[in-house]
Amino acid sequence: MLSYRIQVTPQLPKLKVLGIAGSPRKQGNTDLLLEQVLAGASNQQTEIKKIALRELHIAPCRHCDGCLKTGICVQQDDMQWIHQDLRKADYIVLASPIFFMALTAQTKAMIDRCQALWVMKHVLKMPVAIPPGKKRKGIFVSVGGTKFENLFEPSRVTLKAWFSTLEVKLDAELTFRAIDEKGTISKHPTALQDAYNLGQRLAQETPI
Ligand SMILES: Cc1cc2nc3c(=O)[nH]c(=O)nc-3n(C[C@H](O)[C@H](O)[C@H](O)COP(=O)(O)O)c2cc1C
Repeated sequence: MLSYRIQVTPQLPKLKVLGIAGSPRKQGNTDLLLEQVLAGASNQQTEIKKIALRELHIAPCRHCDGCLKTGICVQQDDMQWIHQDLRKADYIVLASPIFFMALTAQTKAMIDRCQALWVMKHVLKMPVAIPPGKKRKGIFVSVGGTKFENLFEPSRVTLKAWFSTLEVKLDAELTFRAIDEKGTISKHPTALQDAYNLGQRLAQETPI
């Protein structure tokens, strides 16, 4: 009688990379950069998901305190599933241009709706990351039309507060000044390659 030995190669969990496009402008400068980061990160060990906030329904936070006892937002729209994606990601890549020295309204609405996760962490003392304790990292991709020296500073402060709530460490930034017209970023000598290289680097991480 023949006997077979089946060798099972253990499957490593895939690195979940969540790309968030925060610009209202489709195929604009931050969209192009985000695409390159995600293209660079794409391989057999990564699971890539991109969401474009402009295509989703995300109402502003009403500060109704409906989340205060549960950590779950009472407003029913796309934030319900985005919360889950945010909690499960190993890497969050947020791409938003600068509007009036800040993140776009689309991006800020999503961030404010994470108040429910803030409640989960600080009021209910529950872990936000799924699974709990997972080491998570974030990347900030941004552009602005001006050369203003502190162009990204206010957004960086907001982003760090949001990442802290999500238990995510800011790992890298890819920012470019004086990029205004749609698609101008393609004419930059290194920007798209820089974005691709950054994606490749993050894809070498092992999920923990
Ligand atoms: C409402 C609005 C506000 C803006 N505010 C700023 C600003 O404060 N500083 C700046 O450098 N650029 C500002 N810009 C320019 C954008 O940041 C710039 O056009 C950027 O390339 C847009 O990126 P996107 O193509 O990814 O949408 C603003 C643009 C708009 C539409």
